[in-house]
Amino acid sequence: NPTSRRNPWRRAGINRVVAKSGAGGGYKVAILGAAGGIGQPLSLLIKMSPLVSSLHLYDIANIAGVTADLAHCNTPAKVAGFTGKDELAACLAGADVVVIPAGVPRKPGMTRDDLFGINAGIVRDLAEAVADHAPAALVHVITNPINSTVPIAAEVLKQKGVYDARKVFGVTTLDVVRANTFVAAAKRLPLADVDVPVVGGHAAATILPLLSKSRPKIPFTDEEVEALTRRIQNAGTEVVDAKAGDGSATLSMAYAAARFVEASLRGLDGDGEVYECAFVQCGEAVAAPELPFFACRVRLGRDGVEEVMAAELKGISDYEARALEALKPLLKKSIDKGIAFARQQP
Ligand code: NAI
Repeated sequence: NPTSRRNPWRRAGINRVVAKSGAGGGYKVAILGAAGGIGQPLSLLIKMSPLVSSLHLYDIANIAGVTADLAHCNTPAKVAGFTGKDELAACLAGADVVVIPAGVPRKPGMTRDDLFGINAGIVRDLAEAVADHAPAALVHVITNPINSTVPIAAEVLKQKGVYDARKVFGVTTLDVVRANTFVAAAKRLPLADVDVPVVGGHAAATILPLLSKSRPKIPFTDEEVEALTRRIQNAGTEVVDAKAGDGSATLSMAYAAARFVEASLRGLDGDGEVYECAFVQCGEAVAAPELPFFACRVRLGRDGVEEVMAAELKGISDYEARALEALKPLLKKSIDKGIAFARQQP
């Protein structure tokens, strides 16, 4: 594949099987919050994956209809629906990957942190269930504010004695998807060739696209760097405002989350060259000792994160270095808030 040769990071792709040594499928994916704006299109995309044999859908509302509808697609994954806390155990049992888009989205004028009051408790409760019923699964947290909900999930798993730092992810793939789209358009490049790493966190100024590390190597003026960085940071708000009270990104988010699930499954399946950016516990290695969680590029494998690509943060531009320093206290505050919330619970 010529694209892969030009750009080794860009091997991820939805519904593309590149398994080298694995069994080539048979994975079980559970989606918690599957009837929502993200949950439904995400469930559809995962139903199309040849790597998935079992797709379990959980929601507190409307799951029967989504399950019946999706089950009629003639792709191999078997679909089952679950609702109510009593059915969570059966939903999660044996899951290889658990994806969590459960929770409320933003409305115009809201920050992601404004969602903390409702979503923190939702993620805590669902993480407890994951710890009890799918302790070995990879956990993909989509629910915002990711900068806090991922530390909450990690803390809950720790409290239950089943935390494996390689297996808990905040899904920041949408930031990369957006960065790739905007850079390709601005520079008139073929989309398939462009790859921009996005690091830091997943809220406003904590979202830091590393344009200096774009592939292929692209020259940007200072003005372009400023404009593209702002647009990537504010892209979520662009969608929230356009939807005018009807929620936040759902279709592009489902696309991005499906890409991340597919990448994770390829990693589990033994493909040794799967790279994605995600918000994971790698901060101490790449950013600063006070930042345990940080979005960075990782190599995914049989146990989740196999390698943190810390070198990508070396040799960044002065603009990016300043932005990195500026985001650290913001990110730390959100991480600490999540950890404190999880610790205060009985
Ligand atoms: P939505 O409101 O359309 O759907 C949420 C679903 O979660 C609903 O079906 C609801 O019934 C369900 N739910 C609520 N509490 C639950 C619980 N305790 N257990 C199981 N299901 C539960 O919201 P949407 O648009 O799907 O967004 C979901 C989340 O994803 C929001 O927090 C949003 O901020 C976040 N998001 C994250 C992005 C990212 O880049 N990581 C991008 C866009 C949104």
